[in-house]
Amino acid sequence: MNHAAQSPPRPTDEPPIAVWAEGLSKTYRTGFWLNRKVTSLKRCSISVRAGETFGLLGPNGAGKTTLLKMLLGLIRPTAGRATILGRPIGDRAMRQRVGYLPENAYFYDYLTGWEFLEFVAQLLAIPRSQRSQRITQLLDWVGLSVESAKNKQMRRYSKGMLQRVGMAQALIGNPDVVFLDEPMSGLDPLGRYQMREIVLALKEQGKTIFFNSHILNDVESVCDRVAILARGELLCTGSLDELLGGSERYAIRGRGGDAAALGSVLDTFDRQGESWQGETGRALPEVTAAVMGAGGAIASIESARPTLEAYFLKQLRDRGLTTSQ
Ligand SMILES: Nc1ncnc2c1ncn2[C@@H]1O[C@H](COP(=O)(O)OP(=O)(O)O)[C@@H](O)[C@H]1O
Ligand SMILES: [Mg+2]
Repeated sequence: MNHAAQSPPRPTDEPPIAVWAEGLSKTYRTGFWLNRKVTSLKRCSISVRAGETFGLLGPNGAGKTTLLKMLLGLIRPTAGRATILGRPIGDRAMRQRVGYLPENAYFYDYLTGWEFLEFVAQLLAIPRSQRSQRITQLLDWVGLSVESAKNKQMRRYSKGMLQRVGMAQALIGNPDVVFLDEPMSGLDPLGRYQMREIVLALKEQGKTIFFNSHILNDVESVCDRVAILARGELLCTGSLDELLGGSERYAIRGRGGDAAALGSVLDTFDRQGESWQGETGRALPEVTAAVMGAGGAIASIESARPTLEAYFLKQLRDRGLTTSQ
């Protein structure tokens, strides 16, 4: 379950490793004399396969942005090493294949969205003849009208519009790996839904997505694998099934029936008067047959898999960490 990478990935039949890090650490120096040290990340090791949607989950201040910026080569690690698409971080050829949506992106207030995207396309050396078509296509994709992109300066954009422009600039170079730092925060429910659809469409296209979020629900609904980060430490990494257990546990409520017979198929059994409830890890046909055989009736069956939220809070509590720092 823990995905501590020991050595650089070797070629196998599985998809190649797109993002790999071992022992990444970051200590910031702060204060007027730069003599105070803040350790934001402690020996983080991760590996994300090509085509995977990976969610880095953690409360505010956990170190998510710090980790992402180091992977992008924007800040230097104090210790550790990492590769993106097999190349060391900061490598120029690698950067061309990577897209990045920063957290709270600050764009040029007095440019229109279109002018800004033209500027990014120019930086990426996209030929002039292709720019207009590429930008129109991306605007359509992220759900921003060409009209508002061309006629409005970005200081007049809502948070949702800025996120869309941010997403368009992250994708303009058709990257293989996309880093998204809190892509859904600050958006209204419709905006979140649309952003989630964009992420799912990127996933369909086979892109590798590295997604930072403090919102459990967003991670749960789009990510293949997640890692939980708190106070600079990776607490665990795995697929939702690995972390939460498969979905084959059920909470069952019912009425009546022979208690001893019911108790033999339910791992927990709690009866009050005629009503009872219990949990089981057995297959549903077996359980329903046993309940009926015991003379009982089933009122409801629900998945007893814990939510990511419950799992997340337990991880923090078990380590004496709270969600606020
Ligand atoms: N440039 C910096 N100088 C000093 N401390 C920083 C700097 N950037 C981040 N930190 C600190 O590192 C910790 C992790 O921050 P960050 O990576 O932004 O967390 P997250 O993205 O999970 O909210 C926080 O305690 C933050 O105050
Ligand atoms: Mg952050």
